[in-house]
Amino acid sequence: MVENLITKPICLVAPTYVLGGKSVKETKEKYHLPYAHRMLANENPLGISPKAAEAIARAAAEGGSVYPDTNSTELRTKLAGMLDFAAYGMGIENLNVTAGAEHALNMIMEIFLKEGDEVLISAPSYSGYNRTIARAGGVKKTIPFLADGHCDFDGLLAAITDQTKIVILCNPNNPTGCFEKKEKVQEFVKRFPKDKILIVDEAYIHFAPGGMEQSVYTEVCEDVNLIVTHTFSKIYGMAGIRVGYIISNREISGYLRNYGGVRLSNVQQAAALAALDDQEFYDRTLAVTVEGRDYLIRELRALGYSPYESAANFVFCDLHMDKAYLDEAFMRRGILIRTNLEYPRISVGTMEQNRLFIEALKEIREEKNKDAVHREGA
Ligand SMILES: Cc1ncc(COP(=O)(O)O)c(C=O)c1O
Repeated sequence: MVENLITKPICLVAPTYVLGGKSVKETKEKYHLPYAHRMLANENPLGISPKAAEAIARAAAEGGSVYPDTNSTELRTKLAGMLDFAAYGMGIENLNVTAGAEHALNMIMEIFLKEGDEVLISAPSYSGYNRTIARAGGVKKTIPFLADGHCDFDGLLAAITDQTKIVILCNPNNPTGCFEKKEKVQEFVKRFPKDKILIVDEAYIHFAPGGMEQSVYTEVCEDVNLIVTHTFSKIYGMAGIRVGYIISNREISGYLRNYGGVRLSNVQQAAALAALDDQEFYDRTLAVTVEGRDYLIRELRALGYSPYESAANFVFCDLHMDKAYLDEAFMRRGILIRTNLEYPRISVGTMEQNRLFIEALKEIREEKNKDAVHREGA
């Protein structure tokens, strides 16, 4: 019995959701299907950047037996160059790499939160925040989005109290897909109290109109406690490799580095470096995502639904059916979507997957209607 030796209360609470969710293999076996499509975790439907995949094999063969560069200097230098840090008075010291954005968020919470500190977030937002805040002993407080789906910036500022330590802005927001333009976030940053931490989680920024041009990392400077997080999991298709990074002012960056949370493997570093060189894959992912997102929204509207406008690689939509029923009905048809949120969330797939989803939805609706008619007649 070690329970009485546990010091972190979160260890006594089992996670309610396994990140990544339902598996293709299990679904195929359970429903005797030749295929199953993951449209549930906002992954890249084209897979991983081929250049990154090649680099991984090479790095494993050539660098698998030697310790990696603890500082990921080459990767940080490349990122700083691509993001034109010099133009904003920044350098590689403003960058920390992490094993995905989730790890970035965990590190930030661990460093800044003590038991009972509050973290303010718009709702609904990324469910991963719940555990990351709870792990560090923090308490989540939420402010609803405005009726038009946009962020209530005034509401967030008004809700900040002495207990508030961190505010998180997820932009574009998961799961709604709602996007706040850079000017609006810049204004929020200007009005944000200097003695609190503002995290802008830009996991999906590449898919928003304007892409990286819309990122607010350009606002990072010494007198603002702004922390911007990015990931290689989405546009670069590297969710399984685990690479992300944090952009913050030199002071915060230094504390993050002292905390020493991560040493990316040679494989992770090589994959990220190669992915950054794969512009063709980046462009193709963006094109497939935008085409698929437009298609899903258009088709859902044609069926009478009101999906949220999305600037990300997923669509959030009330399908007006029981979520457990929908989950099973889609799985039977080899389609895995996220159903344990306020509404179903469908990750944009390839056009073939998107069409399969819409066809499956039509079938499910018919099945439901037949059931209803049958019951009325009985
Ligand atoms: C808003 C948001 N932030 C962070 C993450 C974590 O991403 P990563 O795979 O880099 O850990 C996700 C993952 O889906 C996300 O949706």
